[in-house]
Amino acid sequence: MKQKIRLKKKILITAGPTYEAIDPVRFIGNHSTGKMGFAIAEELAQRGAQVTLVAGPVQLTTSHPNITRIDVTSAQEMCDVCLKQFPKMDGAILSAAVADFTPVTKYDKKIKEKQSLTIELKPNPDIAQELGKRKKTKQFLVGFALETNNEFTNAQGKLEKKNFDFIVLNSLADKGAGFGYDTNKVSIIERNGTVTNYELKSKQDVAKDIADQIEKLN
Ligand code: CTP
Repeated sequence: MKQKIRLKKKILITAGPTYEAIDPVRFIGNHSTGKMGFAIAEELAQRGAQVTLVAGPVQLTTSHPNITRIDVTSAQEMCDVCLKQFPKMDGAILSAAVADFTPVTKYDKKIKEKQSLTIELKPNPDIAQELGKRKKTKQFLVGFALETNNEFTNAQGKLEKKNFDFIVLNSLADKGAGFGYDTNKVSIIERNGTVTNYELKSKQDVAKDIADQIEKLN
């Protein structure tokens, strides 16, 4: 059965990891697969939203005609695209696992074998926080938090700091949740402090819960 078009919004989504180049063949990255962000993009597109999906390096494909995909590699590239796109959007969902640091020096030739190597890192822009600062009253912003300890306190802190409307918390302590898995177990924390805990379910079904929550923001 075809779903009714009910979400007439332009939505920006970040997904996947970022790769921070050390030299032409090496990088600093993380285990994010992008599955959660891609599932959200698909779900929102099916509900009628025009989705701009900014994806780090992932092995995933998109099929829905409502999804415009922009591929990026580094956090700086992802940030540049998001800052350009956000003013045109009704809201953004930041599911990317952005590398917090990047090498100060990016070697243009492969680093040769050495006894030891020190790589100096500098902080990357915090995309969520930058969008949080620019957010207009009509726009919404949704973030993710991946925590190993003090989960709720840390997630609530991020919600405030980054000006999110709600934050999706997933705990690495939950078996079957997070990086690499096809399932996820999340809690949604709203600005007024309301917490909803969900069961372990497929990332497609988690995407439905998140999309329902976005529809409630109207
Ligand atoms: N985020 C982002 N840009 C960054 C870092 C994080 O947009 N440079 C976003 C993530 O996509 C997520 C939220 O901010 O929606 C929280 O990310 P997380 O990595 O949990 O938080 P950090 O602020 O990096 O805090 P920490 O790593 O210290 O826990």
